This record gives sequence, C-alpha cells and structure tokens, in this order.
Amino acid sequence: MKKIQLILFGIGNVGSTFINQIIQAQKVFQQQGLEIEIPIILNSSTAFIKDEGVDENWKANFVDFGLPYQVEEIIDYVKTKNWQHVVAIDATASSEFVNNYTNLVENGFHIIAANKVANTLAYDDYEFFREILKENKKQFLYETNVGAGLPVVETIKNLHQSGEKVTKIRGVFSGSLSYIFNTFSEENKNFSDVVALAEAKGFTEPDPRVDLSGTDVARKLLILARELQLTYNLEDVKVKSLVPAHLAEISSVTTFQENITDLDEEFQLLKAELSENEVLRYIGELDVEKKILEVKLVKEQKENPLGALQGADSLFEIYTESYGNQPLVIQGAGAGAAVTARGVVSDVIKLAERIDCCN
Ligand SMILES: NC(=O)c1ccc[n+]([C@@H]2O[C@H](COP(=O)([O-])OP(=O)(O)OC[C@H]3O[C@@H](n4cnc5c(N)ncnc54)[C@H](OP(=O)(O)O)[C@@H]3O)[C@@H](O)[C@H]2O)c1
Repeated sequence: MKKIQLILFGIGNVGSTFINQIIQAQKVFQQQGLEIEIPIILNSSTAFIKDEGVDENWKANFVDFGLPYQVEEIIDYVKTKNWQHVVAIDATASSEFVNNYTNLVENGFHIIAANKVANTLAYDDYEFFREILKENKKQFLYETNVGAGLPVVETIKNLHQSGEKVTKIRGVFSGSLSYIFNTFSEENKNFSDVVALAEAKGFTEPDPRVDLSGTDVARKLLILARELQLTYNLEDVKVKSLVPAHLAEISSVTTFQENITDLDEEFQLLKAELSENEVLRYIGELDVEKKILEVKLVKEQKENPLGALQGADSLFEIYTESYGNQPLVIQGAGAGAAVTARGVVSDVIKLAERIDCCN
C-alpha cells in the first residue's frame, strides 16, 4: 500500500466536500493500492489533528478539539511523524497562505491547489516557485484552477508538451457569468435581477463584482497562457469590466447591491441591438500568434457551441494546428463544490501515480 497524508488548509465549500469525498472513496483507493488519509484539517485560525486521519465526525471534532496554530508549528509536527508522502491541499482563496508554499515544499510537502493565487503571481515569482519545486523534487498540481473539475489545464499542458501548436483558446471560463448571460439572453428580466438570481443560487463570489469585473476570467486566461510557456502577467490581459467606475469604487457590497440597477439600462440597450439569432456571451480569448489576451462581451450566434451554452456550464474551445478550424471542445459544470472537490481528489490520485517513480 502506498500511504499518502493530506494536510488540508481550508474547510469551506470545497474543503469540506473534499473531506467527505476522501472518506467515502476509501474502498476505491484501496483497490488502487492507495491509503489516503487527512490527519490535519485547518481553517484560517484553527487546526484539528488526528494522526490516523479524520472520520465522518470531523466537523464536530474540529469544533470541540481544534486548537489555534501557526503554519510553522504544523510543519514541525508533520516532520516528527516521518510520513512518507505528505501533500498540502490549498482549498483557501488566500494570497497570504500562498506565502507558505516555498517553506512547505522545502520541508517535504507536495502541493495541490484549488486556489489560483500562486499561478497568477508576477511571472518572476511564478518561475521562482517552479525552481523551488524542481530543486526539492516536489509536485504542484492545480487542475481545478480553470474549469473546476473539467480537465482543461491537463489537456492544454499535454497538447503543448507533445509538440502540438495551440493557436487559440476561447470560451466561457466562468460558471457564474455563463449563468448570468445564458439567463439574461433567454429571459425577459432586468440584468440586476439575473445577477441577484445567480447570487441566490450560490454561483457568484460573495461580492459579485469579482465576477462582473472580469478579474477571475483574466486569472484563468493567464494560467492557461502560462501552461503554453508564455511569459505574460495579469496586466497583459485586456479586460472589459462590466462594472462601471462609479459602482467599482463603492467599498460596501450591500451598497453596491442597492445600486446594481444602474447596470440595467445599458444591458437592455445591448440586448435590443441583438438580432433574433444572437445572444450575449462574456468570454476569455487567447490568440497566441497575435499575442492577444482578452476578456470581453461578444455577440454569438445561437447555433454556435458558445451561443448554445445552457445553465452554468463553462466551455473551452482549444484551436491547434492538428485540429484545424474545428476546435477541441471541453464543456460542463465549471463551478460548484462537488465537481471542484472531485477535481482535487483526482489531482491526489495523479500525484500518487507520479510519486511512484520520482518521489
Ligand atoms: N467553489 C467553486 O466552485 C470553486 C471552483 C474552482 C476553484 N475554487 C477555489 O477553491 C478555493 C476554495 O473555495 P471555497 O468556495 O471552498 O471557499 P470558502 O468556502 O470561502 O472557504 C475558504 C476556506 O479557506 C480558509 N482559509 C482562509 N484563509 C486561510 C489561511 N490563511 N489558512 C488556512 N485556511 C484559510 C477559510 O477559513 P476561515 O473560515 O477561517 O476564513 C475557509 O475554511 C478558492 O480558491 C476558490 O477560488 C472554487
């Protein structure tokens, strides 16, 4: 049996679903010769430790027996255990936590991240961390950074590493924005009401401006561009924000929500300009040859894959030399705790296969 110990940072939507999926999949892991345990779970202030791995009572145990911690203390504790393969799972959205990555890797941890921050740092820092990983022979996996559980990062990396020339990546990268524009185009509702609906369904970030500003799509576009070894930074992505300056400036989310109806007139006008066969889509586009990274609102024909998108699905069109004018298309739920957590579990299995040969 290959034994893998997971130290889980972040027990919110994704982290808590991940714990339950790991507990429930034990039999499947054993059939693959794997013993996978989560001996330590942490939120931003509290750690709960159970050396033999947490069980289905983890939530109550975390409340009853959790203790304050420093990351350094966790690293020291793990070192005393002599566990063979230790993986830090980053299920936070924290920039601050990413500052611990180098220390974790230098102390023997592999890293799997749902958190996008490490991959959108300034390019020099991104490169520096890759050097640290190489020096320490440690793995860093992050499939869920783009398209949640969809195999987008892996597919693009595989195409590039096998010598295939990726010429363009284009698509609806965000589940929340997919839902907003699919619904707004189809239904006779104000834009603000559709955003409120998306919020109520839990598709948007707590502050929907994070979605509507295009920042999240820009981050995903940058992550994919870097998989093609393009040395761009976030500032290189041209973003058409959907939030006008006077609403972007408001600090309180509640005040923004009270004023979001300011968006309605503009979006109603945009809708009125559409022909019968067109819909609005908010897309990310990387044109490798033209060196363009863009996040923008476009009109799409209803019969095109992007135009026909439903619900909160994401869709990625990958154009390459061999695929010609017909792109390789990856489509499906691009957000949600269950699919994202499953994507993280899948990264754990991938990592388990890799450490067979190279540690
Ligand atoms: N939800 C999705 O559909 C989806 C899809 C793809 C990727 N992701 C990514 O997955 C990550 C987690 O998302 P989520 O929806 O689960 O977020 P969430 O519900 O807000 O949970 C975040 C968790 O991280 C913890 N945390 C924050 N700072 C921390 C720190 N410095 N050290 C340790 N723990 C810390 C929080 O603890 P406190 O409660 O103490 O603050 C909380 O337990 C994010 O990076 C998100 O972008 C999510």
